[in-house]
Amino acid sequence: MYDTNYDELIKQAEALIENVPHFTANLANLSALIYQALGDINWAGFYLTGGEKLVLGPFQGKPACIEIPYGKGVCGTAAAEDRTLRVDDVHLFKGHIACDSASRSEIVVPMHEGGRVAGVLDIDSPLPARFSPEDEAGLKRLAAVIEKNLFQ
Ligand code: SME
Repeated sequence: MYDTNYDELIKQAEALIENVPHFTANLANLSALIYQALGDINWAGFYLTGGEKLVLGPFQGKPACIEIPYGKGVCGTAAAEDRTLRVDDVHLFKGHIACDSASRSEIVVPMHEGGRVAGVLDIDSPLPARFSPEDEAGLKRLAAVIEKNLFQ
């Protein structure tokens, strides 16, 4: 349905953060890049591990909840279980945290530092089942690049 060119997106992401020694600025620019590159999304950004919870990081979209305990919502579940979650209908996900009531589907990809989850990439769409297995594969590759460049 969507033909996001993840090879291109990853190249752009690498170019954007190359030689920029500013963690927050890099995540801010990456959230903007992702927000512009993917069709039909209404939120793209990062939650970062802080103790036993996730704390809102740089993002694009409507204001969002600031703290998400590990194990809660899509983001907290992805972080606690250390796995990518691709949710076709967030209304059917028990414990989903609705930051923007327009959101219908969501994908969350964990990123690591020293073998532990250091944060997640979170993207929401107002359309159900917006994210395909191809998006999941591409976003995992992108998250791995972000992890390698910014979290290690
Ligand atoms: N829906 C998420 C919360 C974050 S917002 O989507 C930006 C969740 O259930 O974890």
